[in-house]
Amino acid sequence: MHYLEGGMKSWSEHLEPVKVGDLNGGGTLYQFVRIGKGCLSYMAVSNGEAAVIDALRMTEVLERFAKAQGAHIKHALDTHLHADHISGGRRLAAQTGATYWLPPKDADEVTFDYERLEEGRDITVGSTTIRIQPVYSPGHTIGSTSFIVDDRYLLTGDILFIDSIGRPDLAGKADDWVSDLRETLYRRYKSLSQDLLVLPAHFGKITELDEGGRVMAKLSDLYRNNPGLNMKEEALFRRTVTENLPPQPNAYQEIRQTNMGKMTPSEDEQREMEIGPNRCAVHDR
Ligand SMILES: [Fe+2]
Repeated sequence: MHYLEGGMKSWSEHLEPVKVGDLNGGGTLYQFVRIGKGCLSYMAVSNGEAAVIDALRMTEVLERFAKAQGAHIKHALDTHLHADHISGGRRLAAQTGATYWLPPKDADEVTFDYERLEEGRDITVGSTTIRIQPVYSPGHTIGSTSFIVDDRYLLTGDILFIDSIGRPDLAGKADDWVSDLRETLYRRYKSLSQDLLVLPAHFGKITELDEGGRVMAKLSDLYRNNPGLNMKEEALFRRTVTENLPPQPNAYQEIRQTNMGKMTPSEDEQREMEIGPNRCAVHDR
């Protein structure tokens, strides 16, 4: 049994780095796939600097990877206050001297200092041409913010996935946030370049990985194929995202408290809290 637990533990915590693509001004974007839980982190590396987006708890992997690229981590950004896994962003920032960014609307109750992640405050990595542009996109949480990286990639956090869309209820506000979610997905994202490559913070099934082992799709393809983007009637949309939701993630309230800095569980407790699938999507298919 111990042997099995060890195996399950390392599987759940394994992060697989994959190259997403080169950046225009020189540099590379990487995706880190946590296969056992369906979570994704990102790292943009350029000219000796790195920015990490939605860092998972396994910060040593991210630090080691940046070092191997000869890069110093300057920024750690979270698209929102996560409810399904413990963010590594704050720890990564503390360990590397990076700036930790969080959307202020999700940070009402946090107990630590952070930089306000807001639309209009672009972040640069390495050469000034690698631009991370925040796009306010509420609905999964009130603060949820997406990033356009290098005018080419759209990091959607938990708003839009490959096969599904984000659920609006993990902070207990499904009814309030459903119109925000609709606005973000049916208007805000529609006004962006449809050639953007969508990179979400989660995936539900291993089949969402492409032949290169990445979770990525063109925005225009998602508007064609993703059922969550094809509910014309607002009433149907409202029903779908507020009723028949999958169960909430294991220990999601404690995870939120931890990410706010109100609880500091041990490594073992953190591991225990993260057991189970991410369940951030409306459809748990
Ligand atoms: Fe989330």
